Amino acid sequence: MRPVLFALLIAGTPLAAQNVSREEGLAAWERIYAVASHPRCTNCHVGAQEEPMWEGLSYGRGTAHGIGVKADESRIGAESMPCRTCHVTAAGRETPAHAPAQIDDAWRLPPVELDWLGESSAALCAQLRDPERNDGHEITDLVDHLTSSPFVAWGFAPGGGRSTPPGSPVEMARDVALWGGAGAPCK
Ligand code: HEC
Ligand code: HEC
Repeated sequence: MRPVLFALLIAGTPLAAQNVSREEGLAAWERIYAVASHPRCTNCHVGAQEEPMWEGLSYGRGTAHGIGVKADESRIGAESMPCRTCHVTAAGRETPAHAPAQIDDAWRLPPVELDWLGESSAALCAQLRDPERNDGHEITDLVDHLTSSPFVAWGFAPGGGRSTPPGSPVEMARDVALWGGAGAPCK
């Protein structure tokens, strides 16, 4: 990312005038990876497989979504059983443990390119900084998405006793901006 863009992203913070070192960039990446590899994110960011995951919900590692649910090419299960059959679009509804999550957007899987499930830190780092392997996204898009997406907001505050990734959407956006400001370093 160009330094000017980076300065704009974190304008108003004491960091705006500083250069971000490679070490700071790598430390920010470690925090980003701790979130991006958490089941609240990877249960949807499953790549080309049809089944969403049910990891981190007491069923054990490697457990796919029950009830034979498939996202299909539409990613919303339109060809078989639509996600909205159970994951109703509703604002501000915190669902109890083991009930289908509800947010103010159509519950669905991301495009297959945004495949994070089971990725190592190095592999995901290389993927996220490359728009060609990242559904065309620049780092600035990622920063915007983190603070505006209802999926991300839900992931950090899913309620019902579900485990959460460390930090918050704002902290993650700040880390992505830091990482980008350091030239998106990978180990
Ligand atoms: C319910 C499924 C779901 C969950 C859970 C989810 N995402 Fe996503 N994510 C999506 C979809 C769908 C997209 C594609 C963009 C869109 O349609 O909003 C996406 C796209 C993204 C992108 C790409 C940004 C862009 O420019 O499109 C990022 C970054 C992202 N998600 C981060 C996260 C993080 C971090 C978490 C966990 C805290 C998370 N997501 C959890 C569904 C999900
Ligand atoms: C027949 C009802 C039903 C349908 C249809 C359904 N789900 Fe679910 N889903 C559930 C239930 C129930 C849970 C909660 C499981 C638990 O927490 O024990 C769940 C949980 C999830 C989770 C895990 C969320 C977390 O807490 O990490 C994801 C991801 C998910 N569903 C994605 C989808 C997607 C994508 C579709 C459509 C392709 C879909 N679901 C269709 C019932 C459904």
